[in-house]
Amino acid sequence: MTTALPPFAALAPNAADHDAERRQMLLLTGGAVCAGTLATALPFVSSFAPSERARAQGAAVEVRVDDIPPGAIKTVEWRGKPVWILRRTPEMLATLPTLDSQLADPESKREQQPAYAKNAARAIKDELLVVTAICTHLGCSPSMVAAGSGNPSVPADWKGGFFCPCHGSTFDLAGRVFKNKPAPTNLEIPPHQYLSDAQVLIGDDGKA
Ligand code: FES
Repeated sequence: MTTALPPFAALAPNAADHDAERRQMLLLTGGAVCAGTLATALPFVSSFAPSERARAQGAAVEVRVDDIPPGAIKTVEWRGKPVWILRRTPEMLATLPTLDSQLADPESKREQQPAYAKNAARAIKDELLVVTAICTHLGCSPSMVAAGSGNPSVPADWKGGFFCPCHGSTFDLAGRVFKNKPAPTNLEIPPHQYLSDAQVLIGDDGKA
């Protein structure tokens, strides 16, 4: 299934923004769509409706989350970047504490983490991971790789997570980067807050 995101080049503040064009290309080639049977990409971009100009300027976007099935990802766009919302199952969450010794920053202590991401699940609500789908190395778009997928790009004991095809960085199901990978930090958690059980506001956590 492919996403139906609007072209990033049209949304970038500068039309010549090469990073935005690169991300657009990766999205169009499926780079930001989850892989395997663990999750399905759900391009519900119609669930929020700020104007194109407002989005380009970084306006917060409201996203419905109560329609995301367990194990599935919804991809939305904020400030020209894809943002994933993954509804994690109890089985997915159970993998997280087993991986700490393999991770570069398991407790998310580095400065790019908002306070509400400095917990085991890196989330306000454990079951919902809201994370920017841009690799922290050089900006490629990772893909989701399911546990047991047989994908040769990840270890045989892979418990599910994200793989960046550009230089091989791997991240767990909380977006935490594994040790000795090119990506220096965990995937970024964008500012966000829940307006209700059914809606999250991405781009504004009320702390500005
Ligand atoms: S851009 Fe992701 S590993 Fe280099």
